[in-house]
Amino acid sequence: MQSPTIKNLTANALRGGFLPVMMEKLWLRLTERNRRAEEAQSAAWCAEHAEPLDAFASALNPPAWAEAVEFDTALGKHAEEKLAAIDVDLGGGGDCRLLYFLVRHLKPQTMVETGVAAGFSSQCILSAMATNEMGHLYSSDFPYFRLERPEQYVGYLVDDDLKSRWTLHIEGDRKNLPMILAEADQIDLLHYDSDKSRSGRSTAMTLLGTRMSENSVIVMDDIHDNLFFRDFATAQSRPWRVFSSTNKYVGLIGL
Ligand SMILES: C[S@@+](CC[C@H](N)C(=O)[O-])C[C@H]1O[C@@H](n2cnc3c(N)ncnc32)[C@H](O)[C@@H]1O
Repeated sequence: MQSPTIKNLTANALRGGFLPVMMEKLWLRLTERNRRAEEAQSAAWCAEHAEPLDAFASALNPPAWAEAVEFDTALGKHAEEKLAAIDVDLGGGGDCRLLYFLVRHLKPQTMVETGVAAGFSSQCILSAMATNEMGHLYSSDFPYFRLERPEQYVGYLVDDDLKSRWTLHIEGDRKNLPMILAEADQIDLLHYDSDKSRSGRSTAMTLLGTRMSENSVIVMDDIHDNLFFRDFATAQSRPWRVFSSTNKYVGLIGL
């Protein structure tokens, strides 16, 4: 009998728009071969530069940081209950404390995020925007093609009453980002958490960079995966930082 994963992969591959992204992912896996060596080098660089997030954020804006920590604790409980209701592994989220904090501190008009999955980051960004009473979030995702009808789970954690500030595209960054650029004049805050390959990060930064200014702030998740963040951040004339999060490192540019 066919395994559920093979069945879902086959069914999704036959759906319009899925196959090219699936092939691209396979190609990246085969071609970015030196990943392990680069990952070790990158993790060592991150460890060398990491600073405590709470010290950074509480020095910048103590009330916003206290609010972010409280929100993150509540979101963790809410997500646990909601995810327990479906028997599907949707993976973990980005650093919600940092994202909530930045949205409350910077009050962006326009924010872009890549990588939604269950929607931890979308829920925390949209909640902070609701409290700010301003802002719009454009999100780019590609559903987990190992699952059956995976699009039903994208942003599963996002509350309905927050969705008026949200535009979600789910055809993969290659297609989604040009659509977002057609809608967003300027990007004040970017959270990158989708395709973690070097080329995925590089293509997105080149595209989205056309709508970012010297004041725009960039958050990049899982920067230990390869040396892209090190090379990109150190080539900028703006400050950059590295934070250690749960089992990973998160990079920040612009503050
Ligand atoms: C780590 S998860 C995102 C977690 C999310 N930011 C959160 O905090 O809950 C990564 C997501 O990016 C999506 N993804 C991977 N490659 C992508 C691509 N090329 N374009 C768009 N989304 C992609 C994955 O399918 C998955 O939904």
